[in-house]
Amino acid sequence: MDVLLEARNLTKTFGSLKAVDDISLTVKKGEILGFLGPNGAGKTTTMKMLAGFLAPTGGETFVCGEAVSTASVKARAHMGYLPEGAPLYGEMTPRSFLRFVAAAHSIAKVEAAEVVESAAGAVNLHSVMEQRIDTLSKGYKRRVGIAAAILHAPDVLILDEPTDGLDPNQKHEVRRLIEAMSVDRAIIISTHILEEVDALCHRAIIINRGRIVADGTPSELKSRSRYKNAVTMLMPTGNADAAAAALRAHKAVFALEEAAEGMNTRLTVLPRGRADIAADISELAGESGWPVTEFSVDSGRLDDVFRHLTEGDA
Ligand SMILES: Nc1ncnc2c1ncn2[C@@H]1O[C@H](COP(=O)(O)OP(=O)(O)OP(=O)(O)O)[C@@H](O)[C@H]1O
Ligand SMILES: [Mg+2]
Repeated sequence: MDVLLEARNLTKTFGSLKAVDDISLTVKKGEILGFLGPNGAGKTTTMKMLAGFLAPTGGETFVCGEAVSTASVKARAHMGYLPEGAPLYGEMTPRSFLRFVAAAHSIAKVEAAEVVESAAGAVNLHSVMEQRIDTLSKGYKRRVGIAAAILHAPDVLILDEPTDGLDPNQKHEVRRLIEAMSVDRAIIISTHILEEVDALCHRAIIINRGRIVADGTPSELKSRSRYKNAVTMLMPTGNADAAAAALRAHKAVFALEEAAEGMNTRLTVLPRGRADIAADISELAGESGWPVTEFSVDSGRLDDVFRHLTEGDA
């Protein structure tokens, strides 16, 4: 079976607030799905329900075919969950905490030592195994959380902001780890880092006010941006005014952005209907003799799409 995680019509209300409003999704083996959305959009609430840590008001989640509501133990055995901020037992050491998690998964004592070693190894924890968790750096705390999530070799991983607050090196490491783990698993991560979606995710869902407002591959989502096929040119500022006037008059041009950069000006031409205008603009630049030093074509911008779909919803 290809689909390892399926959510059908998940809903969660807190009093009068509909935090999650009819969310359905599937994640296949080998797939990394990104959850995007502004603060308070409902990402964490959805992930808690997917992981079986919060009962939905409506809807159902299936993990490897097991319903979370009626076969909770079986479903959870297939699932690893990294909570937001990775709260852990500070007074424990990584070793004692991971042993505790192994016991919670009913892993036999003889096996547990091996399982803990292997999870610790996967996230490079060995040097701090005997140190109190509350004295570890944020990055190491996060690694302990990830080790706990993967300890029982789950088929589905739900990671709530796994790289939040990590330094660039550790972000890179955690991303590589997630990539490596995705080969034979289904993974959902939430993130506020849009580049992470490009770097890591096969598919992304944008959530706003509890609802899915976009679902597609990163390149599909980016192609919805006003910057899809936008042409950017750098030229000396002395030439930019004439170029800008000519571009504005061009029938294929929807809008023009100008930005000063030292002695130069960067002109970004947004095409009408996201049409491919690179050849036309390049021809115009050549004919007009603009001294263009840089010329590039945009594949679209995720931040533009994100803002457009979630604007005014803080
Ligand atoms: N236990 C709760 N009781 C009441 N309201 C809650 C509870 N948990 C979450 N909420 C509300 O549900 C909404 C969604 O919160 P959630 O934590 O899922 O957002 P999020 O998308 O994860 O945001 P962030 O990007 O800040 O992590 C928010 O308005 C939040 O205040
Ligand atoms: Mg959250």
